[in-house]
Amino acid sequence: MFELDPSQIEEYSRNKPEYYRQLALQLESLLGEDSNMVTNMAQTSAFIFQMLPDLNWAGFYLANPEKSNSLILGPYQGKVACVHIPFGRGVCGTAAQIQETQLVEDVEQFEGHIACDAASQSEVVVPLVVDGELKGVLDIDSPKKERFDTEDAAGFELLADVFLKSSSLI
Ligand code: SME
Repeated sequence: MFELDPSQIEEYSRNKPEYYRQLALQLESLLGEDSNMVTNMAQTSAFIFQMLPDLNWAGFYLANPEKSNSLILGPYQGKVACVHIPFGRGVCGTAAQIQETQLVEDVEQFEGHIACDAASQSEVVVPLVVDGELKGVLDIDSPKKERFDTEDAAGFELLADVFLKSSSLI
């Protein structure tokens, strides 16, 4: 289940907003009644990694309950990654600090970018905010420059929202 085939890549290219709407419905049913945060982060990362072309990393960083203003690595798909990211550092830390989605077409042009996987060339980071409080970020990386546009960023915000609504966050 949930495999990406050539016809889906075509569908994705033809109408990204519609493709992400379909993904959101599928993710909702995949997460189902279970609200465990770790389970849902693991499933959401794997689902995004499987269902979108040209990704090399997809996963979560969490607000670290043991160290304020700092992110700690959560469940993900991809190569091993940096464990701690202070708010304000790199793309994830910036999204966490200003609580706004970051769409970066070329990570080399982003001041302070953290190169966990040297293959990453572009990325989108969506902050996960509940009642004004930063709970974590969803980070999606690609080995291609300019891989993502504003429709992808809006699509990842939609998927992050499905994740948030289905999960009990700590
Ligand atoms: N690229 C991120 C760091 C995390 S990894 O890519 C998984 C950043 O600059 O925030």
